[in-house]
Amino acid sequence: MITTLKPLKIGKYTIKYPIFQGGMGVGISWDELAGNVSKCGALGIISAVGTGYYKKLQFIEKIVASKPFEAINFYSKNALNEIFKNARKICGDSPLGANILYAINEYGRVVRDACEAGANFIITGAGLPTNMPEFTKNFPDVALIPIVSSAKALKILCKRWRDRYDRIPDAVIVEGPLSGGHQGFKYEDCFKEEYQLENIVPLVVEEAKNWGEIPVIAAGGIWDRQDIDRMIALGASGVQMATRFLGTYECDAKAYADILPSIKKEDIVLVKSPVGYPARALNIGVLERLKEGNAPKIRCISNCVAPCQRGQEAKLVGYCIADSLGKGHLGDVREGLFFSGANGYRVEKILHVNELIEELVKG
Ligand SMILES: Cc1cc2nc3c(=O)[nH]c(=O)nc-3n(C[C@H](O)[C@H](O)[C@H](O)COP(=O)(O)O)c2cc1C
Repeated sequence: MITTLKPLKIGKYTIKYPIFQGGMGVGISWDELAGNVSKCGALGIISAVGTGYYKKLQFIEKIVASKPFEAINFYSKNALNEIFKNARKICGDSPLGANILYAINEYGRVVRDACEAGANFIITGAGLPTNMPEFTKNFPDVALIPIVSSAKALKILCKRWRDRYDRIPDAVIVEGPLSGGHQGFKYEDCFKEEYQLENIVPLVVEEAKNWGEIPVIAAGGIWDRQDIDRMIALGASGVQMATRFLGTYECDAKAYADILPSIKKEDIVLVKSPVGYPARALNIGVLERLKEGNAPKIRCISNCVAPCQRGQEAKLVGYCIADSLGKGHLGDVREGLFFSGANGYRVEKILHVNELIEELVKG
């Protein structure tokens, strides 16, 4: 029997259905996707990554070789404001989040930009955001949600935040290794039983109880209502889903609707990334060029993430993450990079966001 999904209260906000649409950069979860998800009662999350590419780079000051120049333009405040403004036209005052990776250059500035643009939630993964509250001091209503992949990480974070800022996370996302994009695990650990989502959720739920009532949101490989119910039975208060939203008409990167229906299970692979974590992606575009020895020459223009050290890691890995995701967002199937969760091959039919949410809610 299907039980009803309960509204989820996080900080000052209540989300009607406990379903987050995971942030997807570059240009995958912007105004159209996040706005429609929030409009339907789930939580839409705008990606603050690569906003310089928004609407053909028209909101930025400097473009070099068709790319946003430096982090100030790659993470463009003007474009982020525009994205929030346009999302709000769709969802009004419904809660709306911003996803900002900890590994990016100018992290603190981008967090402040997102608060000013009107984000109600800041969600941060790809590193342990030990100083996240520092940047939101002037925005006490903004809820802070880190992404972790272990109970230990949550413990370290809560201890630091409590000691330094007298605050704990408003909620926490625990992400398992079937998720799309960057993983919080070493390559070989992604395949181990002990790190699979159903085994880490109960541990994170237990740790969260030590710090008061921190709602735990489970992410990575959640596909349908049965999966949602399974996570709730393990103690999660909600789920975050991303790959399913790639298969919607409102997904801001339209290429996915064309690509995904012909993708097979074996076309989804874990690859090295200049961010320093393994990343799950479709084995097409720049990854194919890489195998042919024909990947675009690396020249660091956008200076996107700190661990890459201005293109040094990109040269080791063989591709630039900012340029490749930027091309992916523009639909360049020759040289683009297309992230996907392990379930990407299950997208057979493109749905509207309201149909998908209705399916998840009604079961
Ligand atoms: C195309 C794509 C891009 C993503 N980009 C980001 C990102 O920029 N930041 C982030 O924290 N997570 C990112 N993720 C992870 C999702 O937000 C989400 O947590 C995860 O994919 C959930 O698993 P699922 O895709 O199996 O539902 C991305 C996922 C996908 C599929």
